[in-house]
Amino acid sequence: MKHVVVTGASSGIGAATARRLAQDGHRLSLGARRTDRLTGIATGALTHPLDVTRAESVARFVEAAIAAHGPIDVLVNNAGLARGVERIASATGEAWREMIETNILGVLEVTRRVLPAMVERNTGHIVMVGSLAGYESYEGGSVYCATKRGLRAITEALRYETLGQGIRVTSVDPGMVETEFSVVRFRGDEVRAKKVYTGMRPLSPDDVATCIAFALALPEHVNIDVIRVTPTDQASPGRVARKTS
Ligand SMILES: NC(=O)c1ccc[n+]([C@@H]2O[C@H](COP(=O)([O-])OP(=O)(O)OC[C@H]3O[C@@H](n4cnc5c(N)ncnc54)[C@H](OP(=O)(O)O)[C@@H]3O)[C@@H](O)[C@H]2O)c1
Repeated sequence: MKHVVVTGASSGIGAATARRLAQDGHRLSLGARRTDRLTGIATGALTHPLDVTRAESVARFVEAAIAAHGPIDVLVNNAGLARGVERIASATGEAWREMIETNILGVLEVTRRVLPAMVERNTGHIVMVGSLAGYESYEGGSVYCATKRGLRAITEALRYETLGQGIRVTSVDPGMVETEFSVVRFRGDEVRAKKVYTGMRPLSPDDVATCIAFALALPEHVNIDVIRVTPTDQASPGRVARKTS
């Protein structure tokens, strides 16, 4: 059984992944800014503050994880967000920075802290939580889509950089998943967030956790490069079948 680190485990896909991997018997280290939300997700898990946009916070989190459960076997880079739907012409730029700092620089910071020990041990698995937004852009999503497309470039480079070193690299790229994602995007407007899923059945966080657990459970010589997973009702970011009743 493995030591799995999950970033952004306080909600949504990260929390569901933590629950699922605990059921599968793995040892877990869970990080997020809202630490109160981490307790009770998985018994025996380390829960520790983590802000992926702050290098010192990342360093402390990784140290605590290793102290609690030993060398890290799997890193699930899940922490991420979309903020706002402003078009480029009307944006202030603040939300752009937040998304780039979290979804790109945050992922890089955590990865660079965890990867060297994996390379040294000649084993490890880095899982990225990408998005369908990394394949096709939409109006009001320029920078969120850019971060997820950028993540694909980083994941591809990482696969090449670690080739021959026993490291697996997987990207799990979901379409619409009902989590707190839209509430965060709409800055706490829950009514507007709920409307995103009107008339269609989105993925659940557990559906995505199942994909992550699948990639982890395969033998060490099997690398799943990408799992692109969408609701049956969604074919692309803009093509969603909605029932009108
Ligand atoms: N929901 C979707 O439709 C969807 C689709 C495709 C991809 N995704 C991706 O899935 C991932 C998880 O999102 P979700 O849907 O589960 O949304 P969520 O319910 O809002 O969860 C996001 C998680 O990220 C954490 N996080 C955000 N900023 C952080 C930071 N600076 N440092 C540490 N943790 C941070 C949050 O924890 P704290 O706020 O407590 O720090 C929270 O646990 C994201 O990368 C997102 O882009 C989501």
